[in-house]
Amino acid sequence: MNIAIMGAMVEEIEPLLAFFGKYETVEFAKNRYFLTSYKGLDLIIAYSKIGKVNASLTASTMIEKFGAQKLLFSGVAGAISSDLGIGDLIVATKLAQHDLDISAFGHPFGYVPEGSVYVESDENLRDIAYQVASEKGIALKSGIIATGDQFVCNSERKEWIGKTFDADALEMEGASVAVVCDSLNVPFFILRAISDGADHDAGMSFDEFLQSSAKISAEFVISMLDKMQP
Ligand code: ADE
Repeated sequence: MNIAIMGAMVEEIEPLLAFFGKYETVEFAKNRYFLTSYKGLDLIIAYSKIGKVNASLTASTMIEKFGAQKLLFSGVAGAISSDLGIGDLIVATKLAQHDLDISAFGHPFGYVPEGSVYVESDENLRDIAYQVASEKGIALKSGIIATGDQFVCNSERKEWIGKTFDADALEMEGASVAVVCDSLNVPFFILRAISDGADHDAGMSFDEFLQSSAKISAEFVISMLDKMQP
């Protein structure tokens, strides 16, 4: 089985490359794809660069060019819910684009005709995550993740996103990956570890916790692979 593991920033996939050790590098469309195998699974690993457009290109490439049959996203997020602290893991049940706005035409935020506000992630992959969490005694939270092409460092904006989308965390790629995978019928899973509170301290907190939180998320995804043996 071909499984894609994707991050947005190099820090989000570095722990994966370090763990797998040996991989082949293929360049395509101004990006690099790292191919390796693990316990009978063929893995395609990449970081997309930040934002929805880059993430869409990478997810599409992993599926259409490299034949990914499932996609796991690993990375960091800003917390909206006060239940989420630095380093806590959240799995997205569904995702929405908080910066998609044609409300001028009477549509809800995050909606475009022939689309939907939310895209749901794959239930089987979420179940695997809950099994891993329970076996390892990890407190895995789940909730709605909102995505937009903005680094949110403003309490008002964060609260608006939380209220409008009932979202628990926010980041800059997940919902675009969700749209791509849903359109191409590829089961997907989005996991994020919290790096900041999306408030006025977010920039400093992000810089401080990017690496440690990215590692927490990446290690969890590696544990999931053990339950995805062919
Ligand atoms: N990813 C991690 N923290 C974030 C934030 N505050 N805004 C957007 N994306 C993020």
